[in-house]
Amino acid sequence: MRWVHRFRVTRKIFNPSNPVFIDALGPIENGSHRLLFVIDRGVSDAWPDLTNDIRRYETSSDDRMMLAGEPLIIPGGEHCKNNTESLDAIVQGINERRICRQSFVVAIGGGAVLDVAGFAAATVHRGVRLIRIPTTTLAQADSGVGVKNGINALGKKNLLGTFSPPWAVINDEHFLETLTDRDWRSGFCECVKVALVKDAAFLDRIEANIPLLNQRNLEAASSIIRRSAELHLEHIVSGGDPFELTAARPLDFGHWAAHKLEQMTNFRLTHGEAVAIGMAIDITYSMQTGLLPETIGERILNILEKLGFQLHDEALRATDHLFEGLEEFREHLGGRLTIPMIRDIGEQIDIHEIDFTALKQAISQLVSRQDPALSSRTR
Ligand SMILES: NC(=O)c1ccc[n+]([C@@H]2O[C@H](COP(=O)([O-])OP(=O)(O)OC[C@H]3O[C@@H](n4cnc5c(N)ncnc54)[C@H](O)[C@@H]3O)[C@@H](O)[C@H]2O)c1
Ligand SMILES: [Zn+2]
Repeated sequence: MRWVHRFRVTRKIFNPSNPVFIDALGPIENGSHRLLFVIDRGVSDAWPDLTNDIRRYETSSDDRMMLAGEPLIIPGGEHCKNNTESLDAIVQGINERRICRQSFVVAIGGGAVLDVAGFAAATVHRGVRLIRIPTTTLAQADSGVGVKNGINALGKKNLLGTFSPPWAVINDEHFLETLTDRDWRSGFCECVKVALVKDAAFLDRIEANIPLLNQRNLEAASSIIRRSAELHLEHIVSGGDPFELTAARPLDFGHWAAHKLEQMTNFRLTHGEAVAIGMAIDITYSMQTGLLPETIGERILNILEKLGFQLHDEALRATDHLFEGLEEFREHLGGRLTIPMIRDIGEQIDIHEIDFTALKQAISQLVSRQDPALSSRTR
C-alpha cells in the first residue's frame, strides 16, 4: 500500500498570506474543498479569534476552500476519549454537513482531540480525509505525525481505534504560547524518548537546551519538537512496519507502565508525565539488571528531572496493579511479550522476559530517589 504523508511546519497558519494550509489540501477535484473544522475547546478559549481567522482565510482563498458550517468545538483533554460523547458529536457533524471522501475534517488541538477526531474521520464513510493541526508540544512532537487514532474503552487506553495515515499534518509553533506549564513540559518527554531509541546526538541537543526549554523559549522548543516529529515520521515511513504488524514497538519505550499509570491515576498524570515515570522505571530496571551502564542511566534520569518531570508517583505503590500493564501491552498486539528497552543512547533492543523481583526493586529505588519516606511502602 502506498500513501503520501505531508508534514509541514509554519507560523500563523491562518494568516491570509500564508499558503501552507491551502497548498496542503492539494489540487481541487470538483468545485472547492469542503472542510469541517473540529477544534479543541482549550484552543478556542485561548485563541478567541481563531474562528474569525479561519473565516478570513476562507474568504481570501479564491474559492479554493469552503467551510461546511461552523466549527465543532470539542472539550479538550483525556476526558474526550473516555466516553463516546465527543466521538458521537463529530460523527454526527460529518454526517449532517455532508462531508464526503473528497472533503476534509481539519482537527485542531491536543493529542486527545486529534485522536478522537481521527477515529471519527477514519471510520465514517470508511474514511474521510483528515488534516491534523496539533497544538500541544506532545502532539506536535509525536502524535500528530503518527498514523494511529483512538478512544479509551472498557477501562483500557486506546482500546478502540484504527491505523489511518492523515492527509497532512501542520505544526504551528504559535499555538504553543498559550499552553499551561504542565502541558508545555509534557511533550519534551516524547522528544527524550525518541532520542533515546533513535538518535544520541539529539539527546545532547535536548540536554543543552534544557534551560531555554524551561524558560519557554519558543525558538528552542520548535527546533527540538521538529526534530522529534521528523524522527517519529522517519520511523513510521522507513522503519518497515508502519501499521505495527510485528510485536516490536520501539517508539513505545516506557509506555507499558505509562498507559497503566494514566488509568490507575484516573488521568491525573498527563500522558507525558506518565511516560517520564515509565521510562524512569525501565531505565532503573535496566541499570539494575546490567543492561544499561549506571552512568548512562543516571544521565537520562537527570535530564528528565531537569526538565521538571517527577519520576515517581504514589500510584507506584500498587506494583501488582501496575504490572498488569505488561500483560495489557502484550495483549494489545498478541504474540510474545516484547518490551522495548535501551542498552545505550540511541540503541534500542527488545526484551521478552521480565525479572519481577528486580522490577520491584527498581521501582522502590526510583521512589526513594525523590522521597525516601515513600520507598519502604513500595516494597
Ligand atoms: N495517536 C497517537 O499516536 C498518540 C501518540 C501519543 C499520545 N497520544 C495521545 O495524546 C493524548 C495526550 O495529548 P496531549 O499531551 O496533547 O494532551 P491533551 O490533548 O490532553 O491536551 C491537554 C490540554 O491542553 C489543552 N490545549 C491544547 N492545545 C492548547 C493550546 N494551544 N493552548 C492552550 N490549551 C491547549 C487541551 O484543551 C487540554 O486541556 C493522550 O490521549 C495520548 O494517548 C496519541
Ligand atoms: Zn507516548
